[in-house]
Amino acid sequence: MIIEPRMRGFICLTAHPEGCAQNVKNQIEYVKSKGKINGAKNVLVIGASTGFGLASRITSAFGCDAATIGVFFEKGPAEGKTASPGWYNSAAFEKEAAQAGLYAKSINGDAFSNEVKQQTIDLIKQDLGQVDLVIYSLASPVRLHPTTGVLHRSTLKPIGAKFTNKTVDFHTGIVSEVSIEPAVQEDIDNTVVVMGGEDWAMWMNDLKEAGVLAQGAMTVAYSYIGPEVTEPVYRKGTIGRAKDHLEATAFEITDALTSIGGKAFVSVNKALVTQASSAIPVIPLYISLLYKIMKEEGIHEGCIEQMQRLYADRLYNEQNIPTDEQGRIRIDDWEMRADVQEKVAAFWKQATTENLSEIGDLEGYKQDFLNLFGFGFTGVDYLKDTNEMVLVPSI
Ligand code: NAD
Ligand code: NA
Repeated sequence: MIIEPRMRGFICLTAHPEGCAQNVKNQIEYVKSKGKINGAKNVLVIGASTGFGLASRITSAFGCDAATIGVFFEKGPAEGKTASPGWYNSAAFEKEAAQAGLYAKSINGDAFSNEVKQQTIDLIKQDLGQVDLVIYSLASPVRLHPTTGVLHRSTLKPIGAKFTNKTVDFHTGIVSEVSIEPAVQEDIDNTVVVMGGEDWAMWMNDLKEAGVLAQGAMTVAYSYIGPEVTEPVYRKGTIGRAKDHLEATAFEITDALTSIGGKAFVSVNKALVTQASSAIPVIPLYISLLYKIMKEEGIHEGCIEQMQRLYADRLYNEQNIPTDEQGRIRIDDWEMRADVQEKVAAFWKQATTENLSEIGDLEGYKQDFLNLFGFGFTGVDYLKDTNEMVLVPSI
């Protein structure tokens, strides 16, 4: 069938299999162009199908020549209905990995469940024996707790006071004011349960107990800090509390891995257009101003550039892993550069519907958003009939 983007609010209901494959190929080409990384050999990526997790899987495979197991929660295709983008990305990744002679298998299911953890352990035992790197890159609005059976929902709310600031509807380019009511305690607690570190610790505990972590294994989860303008809704809001919890959990995991000399890290990444970040008010306006400035400075990065730099310059740089005073790896260093942030803050004050396409990179935002779903790639004929029934080989 001919597949076109169908937008509803902040999501796109369709995905293009060949476009998603092109996206994966482009990321592979980028990683290969940067040369080999003497790093991980057997890698488990939890949240491996889109965003930072997909880029981590690609860097592991095509940068380090690693075998990869990817865990994700994606919707497969049905006749006349497209799969979710992460499904097509994973199908393309497995195909490229097989062609390159690299082991790659995937597990599609709820990573928060005991069943998927067990299935993953069984697969590692059967095929790899042990893993030496575990990437934890889940972004989910809900978590069904495996021991209590309670379904928790995360929220994106400020804490303590109502927050009012500018935002942009990136589809229309209209800049307006948005107000968000403050969270109640329950919102905070639920967000920490969904996006905090509890599930990461459960994964690492189960993997260790099963004996599938190699001596000196590393695990890395992703966090965000960002500028002052987004603080009330991000770092000092409900999601920020979850990130505080995630960051604290890294130390607990490191302690729990002492007997195998394992280490847990949080990497603070750059703000990027993903399905998750597009749904957060205020962030899209910040990103469109940031992109413009970082592109002008020649320091703009997407997920793959970020992950390649994380592996090559931080995790596997053959010296100590550099961290900040709180023990976090920082690859948001270019975003947070004082000169970049000063410019964003100045443009933030000026931004209006009329001037945003000039002072901000609204076009770049839209392009990146379309790309998430496999649309807008050169080299793909979108007018041509395409097969939506593409399957992930290992599933
Ligand atoms: P994303 O939405 O692109 O990826 C989420 C992944 O999690 C997908 O592979 C999805 O299939 C998987 N997933 C979701 N729920 C699942 C479940 N129940 N079971 C199994 N898999 C599930 O998100 P992203 O933006 O790449 O975010 C990954 C991490 O990076 C998050 O912790 C996020 O907070 C962090 N981060 C994001 C940004 C940003 O700007 N996007 C910046 C810094 C840090
Ligand atoms: Na991810």
